[in-house]
Amino acid sequence: MKARIWPALAVCSYLAGGCDSARDAGSPPAVPVGWDRELALAPLADEDPAPDVVQVSLDARVARVQLGDGRSAEAWTYSGASPGPLIRGRVGDTLRVHFENHLPEATTVHWHGLEVPADQDGAGHAGSEIPAGGSFDFEFVLRHPGTFWYHPHVDSAAQVWRGLYGALIVEARDEPALGQELTLLLHDVELDAESGELAPAAAQGDLGRFFGHEGRTLLVNGRIQPAVAIYPGSALRMRIINASISRYYRLGVPGLRLWRVAGDSGLSARSEQVDDVLLVPGERTELVLVARAEPDAELTLRSLPYDRFMCGGDCAQAQDLMRFRVEAGGGHALSIPETLSTIEPIDLGGAVARELVLSESTRGGDTVLAINGHVFDGHGGGLILDARVGTTELWTVRNATDYDHPFHLHGFRFQVVERGGRDEASSEWKDTLNVAAQARVRLAVRFDDRPGMWMFHCHILDHAELGMMGTLHLH
Ligand code: C2O
Ligand code: CU
Repeated sequence: MKARIWPALAVCSYLAGGCDSARDAGSPPAVPVGWDRELALAPLADEDPAPDVVQVSLDARVARVQLGDGRSAEAWTYSGASPGPLIRGRVGDTLRVHFENHLPEATTVHWHGLEVPADQDGAGHAGSEIPAGGSFDFEFVLRHPGTFWYHPHVDSAAQVWRGLYGALIVEARDEPALGQELTLLLHDVELDAESGELAPAAAQGDLGRFFGHEGRTLLVNGRIQPAVAIYPGSALRMRIINASISRYYRLGVPGLRLWRVAGDSGLSARSEQVDDVLLVPGERTELVLVARAEPDAELTLRSLPYDRFMCGGDCAQAQDLMRFRVEAGGGHALSIPETLSTIEPIDLGGAVARELVLSESTRGGDTVLAINGHVFDGHGGGLILDARVGTTELWTVRNATDYDHPFHLHGFRFQVVERGGRDEASSEWKDTLNVAAQARVRLAVRFDDRPGMWMFHCHILDHAELGMMGTLHLH
């Protein structure tokens, strides 16, 4: 099926009353105020007037949050909200974050997917935790455009589960107009049937950790089945982040094809029309939805079945995430360009090859998880890879278990070279990649001059804590 293709250049809105120069220059189209009320993320105020510095204050604290539907729950929040406030900058900006920890426990802030110096990565190596009552001033340059996120990296399965996650968007200097923008963080929680409060992850017992904890209530930007207004014929660019600790989402809008325009870190080389997109924990994608021209219709973003491990029960059913109400009178149509960015393939000449095997292992009679047989336990255990700055490596990541693992490397974005037994043209930058059960992927990564200790791990956070984590020692 061929979806509506708009003329090659952005066309002016035939609904909102023709062309004007502001719209032609790519400024936000005229949509009614409040169209995204249920989903808008509070931005953090920029406290520094310099044009290329973004300075914000962020804290972590326990607070009551509204889930919509008249429900509320006590959560662990960033600055009182879950998801936390939206941080936004442009490529080349310096980001400064003054962070205070008002939680009853130590935490860190990890900038997932960003190429920061190792001492700003918030990975929580010995001594880098921010104690209860402590603070930390982060400062780094935003190097690449894309949809990123931030979350804790100590006791992360529990802390993210309780609500600590937020979005960080880096715009390109020449960001193309791809529609009205919406940032969506996907998360799931388990609500206690009686009190309505968040149930602790431990409620699902030990097998819960192997499966990876999932909650039965799905949240989009902290809300149960929220809705936004969209306008006939107009484009909606959704920056989507999987901030669940274990849940996989296969995203689709029944009855409509979507344009996939970006992966983890910036626009893809080409736009692509898709029926659905698998989004694994930690991963991001950007999808453009072009509503058809019938007001009063309703579209639903759904999580479609995907079998990552022993799929039965709710993973075998499609579940609603949010709704789009098609309303008359706003928005503007535009074309989705076929070519979105230029991505130079990483030169593999002289690359150091490594193999990483994700497997089960045993320790003291218990089954745990490992990489190359090494179990990470936070006390010096775990695989340590030695690598040199200025080199390129080709990693083969092989999954020797019967269940999927989303593999994530800190600090360096990579290109997928092979996936599912097929060679893959490097068409986008990634930092989180699903390795299906008993399958393998190959990825290319270039280590620039940012020495230090960098983590790599399964982003099912329960699996990372069961030992599937290692350290890259770059020097
Ligand atoms: Cu988002 Cu080490 O992870
Ligand atoms: Cu895993």
